[in-house]
Amino acid sequence: MTSSAFETDGPDPVSYLDRLATSDLGRSYKRRMLDELDLRAGHRVLDLGCGPGTDLEALAQAVTPTGAVVGVDHDRKMVDTARARTAGEAVVDVRHADIHSLPVPDHTADRARTDRVLQHVADPLAALGEIRRVLRPGGRLVMGEPDWETLAVDHPDSDLTRAYTRHVAERVVRNSGIGRQLARLATESGFMVPTVVPVTPVFRDVQVADKILGLERTTRRAVEAGYFSDQAAEAWLTHLTRGPFFAAVTFYIVVAEA
Ligand SMILES: C[S@@+](CC[C@H](N)C(=O)[O-])C[C@H]1O[C@@H](n2cnc3c(N)ncnc32)[C@H](O)[C@@H]1O
Repeated sequence: MTSSAFETDGPDPVSYLDRLATSDLGRSYKRRMLDELDLRAGHRVLDLGCGPGTDLEALAQAVTPTGAVVGVDHDRKMVDTARARTAGEAVVDVRHADIHSLPVPDHTADRARTDRVLQHVADPLAALGEIRRVLRPGGRLVMGEPDWETLAVDHPDSDLTRAYTRHVAERVVRNSGIGRQLARLATESGFMVPTVVPVTPVFRDVQVADKILGLERTTRRAVEAGYFSDQAAEAWLTHLTRGPFFAAVTFYIVVAEA
């Protein structure tokens, strides 16, 4: 089930995040999220689920010299990497904590962001309640999350396509429909939601798509989980490599005000 079009062994998690952040797609949506945060010098901003510190430097530049940036992640390796990468940034502090229980006093943050984090958490509504607790009245949260239930892949066999997208929605990501739920969950947590921006990248090149979607690895997992037979997986992947290729998925940027 292998083809040189696909990356059989994916990159490690930090390299994957770095690769996405430096792609045209990553740069573009992260720029939009930064613009929506509307940061000023002196702001105290939280990057919740900061990963290896991908966005901490840009946040620091926007709030320097009198502001503060707090990165939070529950993965020790991500925290260590983020700390190492921001060692020279006086305004940045990276903490090892869970988004459901933030080490931040009530109503002390001006801004917060989550970037592909709520799709993974155990209880997105509780996490949003916790973020609202730490934001000051009028403070702003900018979230960016995919909606994996919008994943579309073109293939002449629609049964195979459905098996693939159903596997992604049901097994690959914990909260696969979080993108469409964000506005409702934020409203239920007491936020106002003035802005929802859809971002829909369209992939026409199988290798570019594979770098983000891990097409062969995900197909292999679908076989293990019983969504595809080996033979069906082979037919699915063979057609994807022959092309023409088309895949798309919608990512939502949602602005919420406390
Ligand atoms: C897809 S990565 C995104 C990292 C970073 N925001 C970026 O854009 O590069 C998701 C991050 O959220 C963190 N995360 C997931 N669940 C979390 C939780 N409950 N509390 C804190 N961090 C969490 C993961 O450890 C991971 O670093």
